[in-house]
Amino acid sequence: MYTITLGTPEELVPSRYKPEGKTELTESCKFPSEKLSWKVTPRGITLEFPLGETEEFFGFGLQMKGFACRHTKKVIRSNADPVANTGDAHAAVPFFVSTAGYGVCVDSLRSVEFYCGYPHRCREEEESYEVKASFEGLYDAKKTAWEEYMMIHVPVAKGVTLYVFEGDTITDVVAEYNRFSGGGCLPPLWGLGNTYRCYTKYTQDQVLETACSFRKAKIPVSCIGLEPGWQTHTYSCSYRVNKEQFPNFKKLVGDLKAEHMELNLWEHAFTHPSSPIYEELKPCSGDVPVWNGLVPDFSLREATDIFAGYHEKSFTSLGVSGFKLDECDGSDYTGSWTYPNSAQFPSGLDGEQMHNCFGILYQQAVLKALGNTRTYSQVRNSGAFAASYPFVLYSDLYDHKDFIRALCTSGLSGLLWCPELREGKSKEDLLRRLQTVVFSALSMVNAWYIDGVPWEQLGCREEAAELLRLRMRLVPYLYSAFYLYRETGKPPVRPLVADYSGDPATYRCDDQYLLGDVFLVAPMVAGEEERKVYLPQGGWYDFWTNEKLEPGEHTVRTGNIPVFVKEGSLLPLAEPESYLGEDTVFELELRKYGMGGSALLVEDDGVTRNVPVTLFTVDGSEKELPSKRYHIKSVTEIL
Ligand code: GAL
Repeated sequence: MYTITLGTPEELVPSRYKPEGKTELTESCKFPSEKLSWKVTPRGITLEFPLGETEEFFGFGLQMKGFACRHTKKVIRSNADPVANTGDAHAAVPFFVSTAGYGVCVDSLRSVEFYCGYPHRCREEEESYEVKASFEGLYDAKKTAWEEYMMIHVPVAKGVTLYVFEGDTITDVVAEYNRFSGGGCLPPLWGLGNTYRCYTKYTQDQVLETACSFRKAKIPVSCIGLEPGWQTHTYSCSYRVNKEQFPNFKKLVGDLKAEHMELNLWEHAFTHPSSPIYEELKPCSGDVPVWNGLVPDFSLREATDIFAGYHEKSFTSLGVSGFKLDECDGSDYTGSWTYPNSAQFPSGLDGEQMHNCFGILYQQAVLKALGNTRTYSQVRNSGAFAASYPFVLYSDLYDHKDFIRALCTSGLSGLLWCPELREGKSKEDLLRRLQTVVFSALSMVNAWYIDGVPWEQLGCREEAAELLRLRMRLVPYLYSAFYLYRETGKPPVRPLVADYSGDPATYRCDDQYLLGDVFLVAPMVAGEEERKVYLPQGGWYDFWTNEKLEPGEHTVRTGNIPVFVKEGSLLPLAEPESYLGEDTVFELELRKYGMGGSALLVEDDGVTRNVPVTLFTVDGSEKELPSKRYHIKSVTEIL
């Protein structure tokens, strides 16, 4: 990793708020830094460097509307309702990676503009004044005389620092970026099971009834989420329990724990005048309210301490295990319910800057309330250097293909994404969506506006239960993938181009992704009878039929989700437990695909942040392990 500072950067930048990194500075890099030119104008700083002819770019955060970025312009703006491929996103991040083996993070909270392939005239060629009557003719004619640049404009700033990361593949580059961000997060074991968020109007009894109905039907749910109805005032938030709906909140936490289920609470940060922390927070808040609530300046220690202290006293000390941090992305386009860019905060941040770090700072505040207890929670905005925060992004949007694309893009910027299931238009739609959900970073059903359970309404309980049980079978495998995320920065979910950066056929693969080191997942959406799947170099096996497949393009038809396993892998598959606790013992089937292969198994208490870990590398020859968590039941060889 290496830094380049141009001019005089602003003081309030993302690196100021990031955790300590786990990576070293280097002296030289592949990035064409000697070709970098820059200028400061009254509008800000602009820099540019020439691009290789075939170089392609990816990144910029959780992008739902686009994938490969060459010849696009991206503006880093946080927005709850991105409608086009402009850069707007729940979590827009000023970080991109190149297929030429480097990645650049622009250390700025401004709405940085990236022109990924801006043409400059580089040779004098005879001009032709012939009038062109086709698009091809119009734009192709001058190609040879032009060279393309990456042009980056940082508004307002008179200087900027670039962090440059390197690696042979995009995965290596992103891993280094994630290590610099403090390493990836490791969720608690229960976080990798299934989360179910209940109808917002449910009472305490109805929530408990729903939870117990899952247990009875052997539907493995390890976390229950409450939506706005649990609070006395929600837009903005009071953070006080609505006693009419929840007469004995403490008891609910205990009753759920008795069913081995954790509790997660919905909220957002805009603090209503009826909140017990309103007066105290006032001096540490911005000058423009949202929904009549304070916007806390979480970059200030006082604000974080007040917020975290209250959450600790009122919720986490009772056993609440996580929070859904809603609405922190803001939207200027649907209802204008956010603070403007011109808002002022006591730390000196303005609204534009706050928009690009609000989610990060909010996550930090809530983590403080959780102390040394791990969480796996949700958030709707994040930013640069986010990998270490155990929060998963989600959306109110609902296009299934966009949700799959977001699985591909999120992992390239240190983000995690949940393609949540809400309602299904049909049984097929519901099951297709749930298939994607169980093969993602967070398996979550968000029934916040559904009075009932989505699969009951569509008469497909058993099919849904099977998928949720399948998720439980994957937990040991996913736990190891997240352990590697924490230690090495390697993202657990990533597009094909990340590992196969030298293969241009992967540059357009925005509807299939890698999950851990073994799975290639290619979800299907309702209405699709078949789909094309691209299998990169190496051998692959169909996860369901064990059929061996050659690399290249395949047409797949299945009611199941197309999943493939890399040849030479050892996949640990657990018996589906009904819950995930400190005493959980996984009965493992080790599936050996082709020759060789080993798997990592990670054992710790599964809930504490800083706790010793025991690692086992198994190759299928072991009969038993000196482990309380893992028990090898069988080994299956698939040739
Ligand atoms: C939305 C959020 C939904 C749900 C809802 C409750 O902003 O994205 O998942 O929580 O608020 O009001």
